[in-house]
Amino acid sequence: MSNPTNPNRRAILAGAALLASGLAAIPAGAAEPIKVGLIVPMSGPFASTGRQVDAAVKLFMQQNGASVAGREVQIILKDDGGVSPDVTKRLAQELVARDKVQVLAGFGLTPLAFAAAPIATQAKVPMIVMNAATSSIPQRSPYIVRTGFTLPQVTAPLAQWAAKNKIKSVVTFVSDYGPGIDAEKVFVRDFGKAGGKVVASLRAPLRNPDYAPFLARVKDAKPDAVFVFVPSGEGAAVLKQFTDRGLAAAGIRLIATGDVLDDDLMPSIGKAALGVISSHNYSAAHPSPENKAFVAAFTKANPTMRPNFHAVGAYDGMQLLYAALKKTGGVSDGPKLLAAMKGMSWTSVRGPVTLDPTTRDMVQNVYIRKAEQVGDGVYNVEFDQVANFKDPGVE
Ligand code: PHB
Repeated sequence: MSNPTNPNRRAILAGAALLASGLAAIPAGAAEPIKVGLIVPMSGPFASTGRQVDAAVKLFMQQNGASVAGREVQIILKDDGGVSPDVTKRLAQELVARDKVQVLAGFGLTPLAFAAAPIATQAKVPMIVMNAATSSIPQRSPYIVRTGFTLPQVTAPLAQWAAKNKIKSVVTFVSDYGPGIDAEKVFVRDFGKAGGKVVASLRAPLRNPDYAPFLARVKDAKPDAVFVFVPSGEGAAVLKQFTDRGLAAAGIRLIATGDVLDDDLMPSIGKAALGVISSHNYSAAHPSPENKAFVAAFTKANPTMRPNFHAVGAYDGMQLLYAALKKTGGVSDGPKLLAAMKGMSWTSVRGPVTLDPTTRDMVQNVYIRKAEQVGDGVYNVEFDQVANFKDPGVE
């Protein structure tokens, strides 16, 4: 016979009541953390991209909290080494199937973003491409949104600028893969339309490139300028060969996308960059109050680093995720989160941005910059811009 005053029974009832009230206080599912699988190169030749992304994500969460709309945000960081699409794909698969992430993010290079795209589609999980910049990436999955930029977007304004600034003949020189081919095609198209002449188009391999023979060929072709795209991390090697081979002394100008004069590398490139004209969506020298605060906080948290465009792609990726979660009231169902992201606008540290609801790419300002000495460092100082510019594509 049970005795209602039995102390054991009372303890059990009290425990059950406590459990029930605890459960009742938490609406179904809402207390579950939101897991974000962040896949970036933290090792290998593109490790600077991973370091920048990781630092920016940490800074964003330090400033905005580790939870949003009542949900804790958990970042699961994975190093894909930056060179193998198979590794990136396997990591994306594991994050979705085993860790049950609700969002995939990062993606340092185009072939790696391509590899993960089918996983996002199958799992119906938003994939925030923070870095990779070939124009066609969002077409690989309806779940992709991109918070960085595209190569056509930053190349087209530079082609216009060159044609208007006494540059009549150009050799294009790019890394031989997606973003480089985009940059080459758009430069050839737009510089040609504006009356300029591309006299040769050279492509260097992405892996273990030796830039010396290419710059020797540029020198022989004697163009007014060489237009360069190499992925971030590679610019210092190109600048060194440009100087060592005497191209500047031969009167050949260097113009480039901002990837080449990446802020992460600028302290090591130093004076070799002075005077180089480039175009990009972000410079650490962007003179807005938002950016001054960002650079100060970033360098305080990471005293040996200067934030670059990859950091900003990541910081804005987190901004997009947090804003979308606020809009859905913490609901992280893939299609709902994606719908909340589309068309979102905010003031980024790079300037005003909107996630185009159709292309799922950023509409943003593209700046023309000149590398100048500012205080004790060399910075890309913006002097002109094409405002609210959409990816023009390659066709
Ligand atoms: C890319 O692989 O898409 C990529 C990587 C680094 C850049 C730009 C594009 O700086």
